[in-house]
Amino acid sequence: MLMAPAYTSSVYRPGIFDGKVVFCTGGAGTICRRQTEALVILGANAAILGRKKEVTENAAAEIQKLRSGSSVIGISADVRDISSLQEAVDRTVKELGRIDFVICGAAGNFISDFKHLSANAFKTVIDIDLLGSFNTVKAATSELIRNKGSVIMVSATLHYYGVQFQSHVGAAKAGVDALSNALAVELGPFGVRFNCIAPGPIDETEGLTRLLPSGAKKQVTKAVPLQRLGSVNDIADATVFLFSEAASFITGSISVVDGGAWHTGQMQALHYPESVLNSDQLWNKKSAKL
Ligand code: HXC
Repeated sequence: MLMAPAYTSSVYRPGIFDGKVVFCTGGAGTICRRQTEALVILGANAAILGRKKEVTENAAAEIQKLRSGSSVIGISADVRDISSLQEAVDRTVKELGRIDFVICGAAGNFISDFKHLSANAFKTVIDIDLLGSFNTVKAATSELIRNKGSVIMVSATLHYYGVQFQSHVGAAKAGVDALSNALAVELGPFGVRFNCIAPGPIDETEGLTRLLPSGAKKQVTKAVPLQRLGSVNDIADATVFLFSEAASFITGSISVVDGGAWHTGQMQALHYPESVLNSDQLWNKKSAKL
């Protein structure tokens, strides 16, 4: 259960997204769920997608309760399968009327050194993160063009430098940035905007809790120039801004929401729990000490 305070905003006006519909992959996950919640609170209806039917439907039901009169549907789909995405888009248009905003948020991650990373393991992460983002936009393109819509892809900062044991994720996220930039240019003339959000260390996310032990939190916090971990609400605020009219001339951008962390270069070493560093699996531990 997420402990971060519920999304509220003293900056954004209630109702700014009235009549809009967001289509969010990975929408039951911690970051994407909060992105969707913020948009719903500010007036949007939503479709969230996830591989686990019950989890996705339960999350949708809970998000719907955040604003009376909102409609939120949970759809089980795998972003690696374009036909399941096309069905999800068709269902969203049928039940909610349209799609204005797309969040490509579905992602996969595990720590593995290159020696033990199989071709299928590499392909799995590329397929979820990169091909999945392509498939999502592909399935929603006609709606995006019809409604002069806007897309946010959830990226990362770990490909800005070489992060060991994350070659699969770094390659996938670099591809996500490139895809977003190219589509910003190609679909800009149709009025469709593409931007990435690159979260840094965000408290209570799977990326932080599963990939780092709780004891490392303090060290991570010290490595952030703003001296705190990010909150899912920081990502939600950036999302609201990028989808709002205030960002109507912003496309092809990458918003790094990380408290300045990646500039320090210290995060590279902090991605790995001691349990992983001490495992037999890794063959180059020297530069990865916490
Ligand atoms: C090495 C691994 C592995 C591991 C899986 N594989 N886990 N290799 N170390 N820990 C390999 C498998 O052996 C297999 O290769 C291949 O990957 C596919 O594995 P499957 O289990 O069949 O894939 P699938 O069921 O599709 O699961 C996808 C998954 C899984 C990504 C592997 O972990 C998953 O669904 N995770 C939940 C989503 C998730 O990870 N969310 C985290 C988001 S956080 P072989 O060769 O054996 O066939 C995030 C933050 C990014 O993304 C930024 C970080 C800073």
